[in-house]
Amino acid sequence: MTVAVARARYKDELHLSPEQLKDICHAFVGELRNGLREDSSLLMIPTMVDLLPDGHQSGEYFAIDFGGTTLRLLYTQLSAEPKSVDAYEVQQEAIPDRMRDCHVDAIFDYIVAQLIDFSERISQSIREKSQLVVGFCFSFPVEQSAINAGTLIRWTKGYKITGAEGQNPVDILKQAFTRQGLKPIIPALVNDTVATLAGTRYADGQDTNVAVIMGTGTNACYVEQLGHISKWLPKFLPRTPDMVVNIEWAGFRPQAVRLLPEDEELDAQSQDPGSGPFEKLTGGLYLGDLARRLMLRVGREEGWFPKDQPPQPLTEYKGWATRDMVACVHDESSDLQQTQKILNERLGSMGAWQQLDVRRQVRDICVSVAKRSARLVAAALSGLLLHLERAGPRGQPARPSNEDDEHPRHTNLNPQDAPSTGALHEGGVPMPTQEMLPPAEGGEVPRNVLAADGRLFEQFRAYRELLRDGIADTLGEEVAAGLVLKVTEGGAAFGAACVAAAAHAYVQTMGRDLPSSRTPGRSRTVSKE
Ligand code: GLC
Repeated sequence: MTVAVARARYKDELHLSPEQLKDICHAFVGELRNGLREDSSLLMIPTMVDLLPDGHQSGEYFAIDFGGTTLRLLYTQLSAEPKSVDAYEVQQEAIPDRMRDCHVDAIFDYIVAQLIDFSERISQSIREKSQLVVGFCFSFPVEQSAINAGTLIRWTKGYKITGAEGQNPVDILKQAFTRQGLKPIIPALVNDTVATLAGTRYADGQDTNVAVIMGTGTNACYVEQLGHISKWLPKFLPRTPDMVVNIEWAGFRPQAVRLLPEDEELDAQSQDPGSGPFEKLTGGLYLGDLARRLMLRVGREEGWFPKDQPPQPLTEYKGWATRDMVACVHDESSDLQQTQKILNERLGSMGAWQQLDVRRQVRDICVSVAKRSARLVAAALSGLLLHLERAGPRGQPARPSNEDDEHPRHTNLNPQDAPSTGALHEGGVPMPTQEMLPPAEGGEVPRNVLAADGRLFEQFRAYRELLRDGIADTLGEEVAAGLVLKVTEGGAAFGAACVAAAAHAYVQTMGRDLPSSRTPGRSRTVSKE
């Protein structure tokens, strides 16, 4: 095969045309609507969240955000001042690899120990609180039976924890607290999508009805009319005609995508072969690895190294991380210096990547992998907007921006500007939000504000633009121009605290439980997809 043909091949294989995107979008709408009636590749889980925080919640909360490569812990005092906090502190740290493959008690003991340390470090020891209220963001598929209870369907994102599937994650967490002599109230068990939506609703936008996560894994949730969720009946009278539905879109299989041999290998060698096809094509856990596999293919074909002696890291999982891929995509220098630096660090400084042409190809591979991911997510989001009749302006018009919103839309999200526990704030500090993908220039366009969280969105500027391009190719330029990705400081962890606050306040004032499912523990046929 000639060099030119090899180059063209992987690009061609990863490319998704506007027609393919439209097919994927329509297939997604079909699966979404099926999932509201019966089992589909999208789990479409009613979350029991029928009322989202509106910025008027107050009180002192901790939150645990567990569900990817990072454990996020948060402490906040929600202010009596609407949409504001009196105190706020957050800690993030990478979850050690050994914790991905252990018994459930080990990881939950680790989480509780980290929370104790964190609370002591910020002088808010949870051992000394007369009442400890914790919001729990748990980002794995859970069949919810109440806002604070559910059943873990399965682990995703490479976790292989024993002793938890089929159990209630809140019970498991409470047991870990009990082993430390602590008795917290855990009023909310929420997925990261739901928490992200809730945090944004608290801090800013009542015009936000969708949340999307692009991190280790990927998923979205949205506000659905209860009457549309025909597969499920609430046990109690719901407080509103709506409910947040956790789509759990990892299992969606976009038939219009032709899988590469490298996609198949990646799946076969993953912790859960056959499971989560959409997540494996799009999620941060997999993108770097797919780029690595393509570098291996192209490097062999083009003689970057002897065919049977590739650099060791190129043959290993984690030899090329998603953050390496992101850094290469962001390298806009004419001689691709940043790309060279990373290649030297990962693969050694003697390789063919000392040549600019090879570096260009490495970057091209990274761009093509990122682009396919962003376009697939764009097609799914387009499907969701179509379902919500927000794919205006020629369909139903998308709702215009709320001009009377009392909070500025462009708020600085620099950590130094975020509220901190160092000093308590008299009258509260507005919780910062930022438009990570502001509406495109060029006059009034209908806005579709999506709450967003996850490392890929946060750290991958180019990805956000690729996403917008994908929406433009699926739904048209005008819809794409009005797309806004909004991030709230503290992300899903902050949102979990807000849901806990709303649920706790309701139970306290009404003296009764929140709505729950009429079919607790209902068994679900979960396909491997
Ligand atoms: C995985 C989980 C899902 C989560 C997503 C993003 O797909 O199954 O619950 O929302 O990752 O973290």
